[in-house]
Amino acid sequence: HGTSKINDKGHLEIGGCDATWLAQTHGTPLYVMDEELIRRRCREFVGAFRASGLQFQVAYASKAFCTMAMCRIVEEEGMSLDVVSDGELHTALLAGFPAERIHFHGNNKTPQEIEMALDAGIGCFVVDNFIELHMLNAIAGEKRKKAKMLYRITPGVEAHTHEFISTGQTDSKFGFDLQNGSAYRAVEEAMHLDHVELLGIHSHIGSQIFEVEGFRMAAEKVAQFAVKVREELKLTFKVINLGGGFGIRYVEGDTPLPVSDYVGAIVQAVKSEFGRQGFPVPEIWIEPGRSIVGDAGTTLYTVGTYKDIPGVRKYVAVDGGMTDNPRPALYEAQYEAMLANRATEPAEEVVSIAGKCCESGDMLIWDVSLPKVNSGDVLAVACTGAYNYAMASNYNRIRKPAVVFVQDGKADVVVQRESFDNIIGNDVIPERLKQVT
Ligand code: LLP
Repeated sequence: HGTSKINDKGHLEIGGCDATWLAQTHGTPLYVMDEELIRRRCREFVGAFRASGLQFQVAYASKAFCTMAMCRIVEEEGMSLDVVSDGELHTALLAGFPAERIHFHGNNKTPQEIEMALDAGIGCFVVDNFIELHMLNAIAGEKRKKAKMLYRITPGVEAHTHEFISTGQTDSKFGFDLQNGSAYRAVEEAMHLDHVELLGIHSHIGSQIFEVEGFRMAAEKVAQFAVKVREELKLTFKVINLGGGFGIRYVEGDTPLPVSDYVGAIVQAVKSEFGRQGFPVPEIWIEPGRSIVGDAGTTLYTVGTYKDIPGVRKYVAVDGGMTDNPRPALYEAQYEAMLANRATEPAEEVVSIAGKCCESGDMLIWDVSLPKVNSGDVLAVACTGAYNYAMASNYNRIRKPAVVFVQDGKADVVVQRESFDNIIGNDVIPERLKQVT
């Protein structure tokens, strides 16, 4: 997919760059991001909304992959940006991302984060609970500002995805419940406060979702709520944010729809629900993360050792693992892989790909068919653009890999490989422990 292909040397090529050359030049493990594919996905979302003729904002959920270069791309593509921490906000601001296009999410924003965001002049807070509401109102008051906000509500829709990444159900740490009346009380309360302006509501039902049904149901619930609020409280929501969660294809058997189908279904659902209620169609906002960057990413590893247990399994170990991709260990996520340096050779054996961390759970792929693998081969794992670099750790004091953006035969480093200095940079040896005996 994307700009990937197999070149005349029989090597994997991404963005016009030979993957074995990338591995040699930049070392492994290496995150390779296909810039053209990221931009294509951005344009698919924006284009589909433009076609609808409605007012909209597509906010890239930066949690999926947040670096300054990525913020630049999102800015150039004219989209908005969703951040969930002071770290993501700082990254965006430093990259010159326009503050008014930033939305701040999170179920436990600190007073410092709220202050930082207000000072920067961000576009919108997505308020999660009453404590945050009053904190936001108070801090905005001190600064003589009026904070624009949405409410995050849980619509009571269960998305069919892994339970750890499904968020729309009532039993969730996020947001105000629609069914038990807390969302309604929250709207009443915001209307009495001087330093917040309630623009509308937000719902996010989960991640890696394939069917449009969940989005349709969420739109329906949200529309019904909007009508009730308008009739009883005389407040009209200007914005409906239906979150992110659009699935991508990691392995055969994953069946995502084209981006335009998700957008089309959402627009249709909002139009028909609000139309049915005789209600003006509000501005629609969404927040895709994974579907913008997921399939644009490929991780390159070098094969090191292997262990063949006759009749049981062959473990092939690479120079990364759960530190650069914790998703298999966390969510039993599945990935496809190939040998980048022998891309045309037929599969000869079924092996399992292990990482180099000191624990058995550090596996990247169970059972993948590959040509007979040798030490030194370059293994390419596909679809690692979302929630890989973003969730990478320094477990075992392993240094985080570099990230390169490839495009038209050029590779630009957008995150440098961590150094040993980065690893020990924050360590302090107290005086009393300094003496080496
Ligand atoms: N909006 C909100 C409020 C969210 O909580 C999320 C993701 C998104 C948007 C973006 O969802 P996406 O389009 O990327 O599915 N670490 C997990 C995924 C966690 C998703 C958290 N929230 C994983 O690796 O699968």
